[in-house]
Amino acid sequence: MSGKRLGIGFIGAGNISSAYLRAITGHETMAGFPVLDIRGLADMRPEASQARATEFGLSAMSIDEMLASPDIQLIVNLTIPRAHVEVGLRCLAAGKHVYSEKPLGINYAEGRQLLDAANRAGLRIGSAPDTFLGGSHQQARSVVDSGALGQLVGGTAFFQCPGHESWHPDPAFYYDIGGGPVLDMGPYYITDLVNLLGPVARVSAMSSRLRAQRPVTSEPRKGEIMDVRIDTHVTGALGFANGAIVQVGLSFDVAAHKHVPLELYGTEASLIVPDPNFFGGDVELRKRGKGEDWTPVPVTQPYADGNYRSLGVADMAHGILDNRPHRANGDLALHVLEVMEAFETASRDGRTIDIKTPVARPEPLASSLRNGVLG
Ligand SMILES: NC(=O)c1ccc[n+]([C@@H]2O[C@H](COP(=O)([O-])OP(=O)(O)OC[C@H]3O[C@@H](n4cnc5c(N)ncnc54)[C@H](O)[C@@H]3O)[C@@H](O)[C@H]2O)c1
Repeated sequence: MSGKRLGIGFIGAGNISSAYLRAITGHETMAGFPVLDIRGLADMRPEASQARATEFGLSAMSIDEMLASPDIQLIVNLTIPRAHVEVGLRCLAAGKHVYSEKPLGINYAEGRQLLDAANRAGLRIGSAPDTFLGGSHQQARSVVDSGALGQLVGGTAFFQCPGHESWHPDPAFYYDIGGGPVLDMGPYYITDLVNLLGPVARVSAMSSRLRAQRPVTSEPRKGEIMDVRIDTHVTGALGFANGAIVQVGLSFDVAAHKHVPLELYGTEASLIVPDPNFFGGDVELRKRGKGEDWTPVPVTQPYADGNYRSLGVADMAHGILDNRPHRANGDLALHVLEVMEAFETASRDGRTIDIKTPVARPEPLASSLRNGVLG
């Protein structure tokens, strides 16, 4: 175990920041991530960063102070999607590594710009989601890698709900450019599928936008009308380089459904992978043949029993300190962003889109990496 620590700062102290701060500081059952030395929180709304800082006993500072701080080597960017690249570029210009919430950018060109700037500066980009590092998803990966499924045929991926305006306090960004079910939820599903199956080679899609405006139904903005600038019901198919074909449904227009989030099919067995928005959940396998039934796959990999958002940041910090690659990396996020943009292009143009950004499957997390310290 290495006692080295990396100074980190947060820009964006809204809704999701509490999940990161809880996981890093070891609230509830979690051990925390000692490699992450939180030096400050910033937000364009100083009252938001001050409130979070007070809640967690941390320091609030201005964005300029954070960028100028020699004690901060990595900035976690938890702003809204439309600000991800602009804020990320400012951090890179200040000499900081950047870990961004998803999506990496609101389109491929933006994401590419961020990665190119990081490469020029010799700095690293990391990106959410890191849920694919969760114990259940790593367990599913080990089943796939064992060959138990036989030849990989395909699968299904479904995230369908009536929309986030029923719970998020400020949901308008979900219906703005950079929002929508694909850019919002697609990263979890597509990243996990790339972790399980490898690179996507092509994408086909159809999508619709049923309502031009929608009311907020959550407090405190209940009744406010939001303009819808993105498609809200998206279906399509992902063709993987290994030949597997996965059917996809991503929607903010569905009242209810009974599909599981992720299923994988092989010639010898099928695998149920739990919700990729979470680190844990049940993994189930059913072999081909009469008399076979769905059987639970015991989850023995770590990080399955809580909300470990920031696991990817901890892995990145260890990667920087130990000079090894990190798993939730910019190349993976850019590949996923190209795939997500392809849903829009495929639907608009009525054609199948080839995916060009190369990506390597991240190394599995070894089962020995426990208690918040990663090798
Ligand atoms: N809320 C969730 O459950 C959730 C879950 C996973 C991921 N995310 C992702 O996390 C990101 C943030 O989501 P959220 O729900 O916390 O949003 P939010 O609106 O609650 O918070 C965003 C914060 O960023 C600040 N901000 C916006 N633009 C900025 C800029 N240019 N410079 C500095 N600060 C800026 C805002 O003032 C706000 O405090 C999004 O990319 C979202 O997709 C959210």
